[in-house]
Amino acid sequence: MSKIPRHIAIIMDGNGRWAKEHNLPRALGHKAGVEAIRRIVKESNKLGVEYLTLYAFSTENWKRPLKEVNSLMKLLVDYLKSEIEELNANDVVINSIGDISKLPKICRVELDNAYEKTRNNKGLTLNLALNYGGRNEIVDAVKEICLDLNSGKISEDKITEDIFSNYMYTRDMPDPDLIIRPSGELRLSNFLLWQSAYSEFWFSNINWPDFHEKELKLAISDYQKRDRRFGKVK
Ligand code: IPE
Ligand code: IPE
Ligand code: MG
Repeated sequence: MSKIPRHIAIIMDGNGRWAKEHNLPRALGHKAGVEAIRRIVKESNKLGVEYLTLYAFSTENWKRPLKEVNSLMKLLVDYLKSEIEELNANDVVINSIGDISKLPKICRVELDNAYEKTRNNKGLTLNLALNYGGRNEIVDAVKEICLDLNSGKISEDKITEDIFSNYMYTRDMPDPDLIIRPSGELRLSNFLLWQSAYSEFWFSNINWPDFHEKELKLAISDYQKRDRRFGKVK
């Protein structure tokens, strides 16, 4: 396993369809999805991936029934509470992208605790995309740039792609090398719009709760066969 992608991002999709397939309520599909998170975080860390970004809740997911939104928030709290010791022991750094100020307080408290506990760790960065939207992120970056322009902190001629990147939630991370989406959907759904400019994509028809180490390794081995040209000729 040479050439491991430094940054893998996953659109964890298909929990609802998995639940339907098993005649279970959607909430249990999300619960099964958490088991897949446990497996994939462990395996990514083991393989030496540096950043794993998981799309857990989009800015559009607020449009779901309140009951489902609440069960997703509760799962986040339960996940952090039950996993934090082990993640910490495995040297994982917890980070998030998205506007977490809109999350319920109980989520923010657990997240703050997780950042604090793990910030000096040196292993995998587990980056949770929560209330994340790619367009929202770009608009927020533009607003911040406007503030810095008005206050004289930067000048217009200094704004480059690199500077712009520094205003994104992902400012301290490399762009995702590999973006994985299970469940058969072939779209980004507002995920990492700016950062995915040169990402490699890997799609699979299986639903997220059925995603195992095997699928992760398959995705990585396909990635390793890709020729990333970045617009150049070989
Ligand atoms: C992904 O599974 C989880 C979230 C979006 C939070 P879905 O809930 O979207 O599952 P499907 O697409 O309905 O199968
Ligand atoms: C994308 O999945 C968001 C997350 C996985 C958190 P969705 O299920 O919300 O996406 P659409 O609605 O199918 O595009
Ligand atoms: Mg979905």
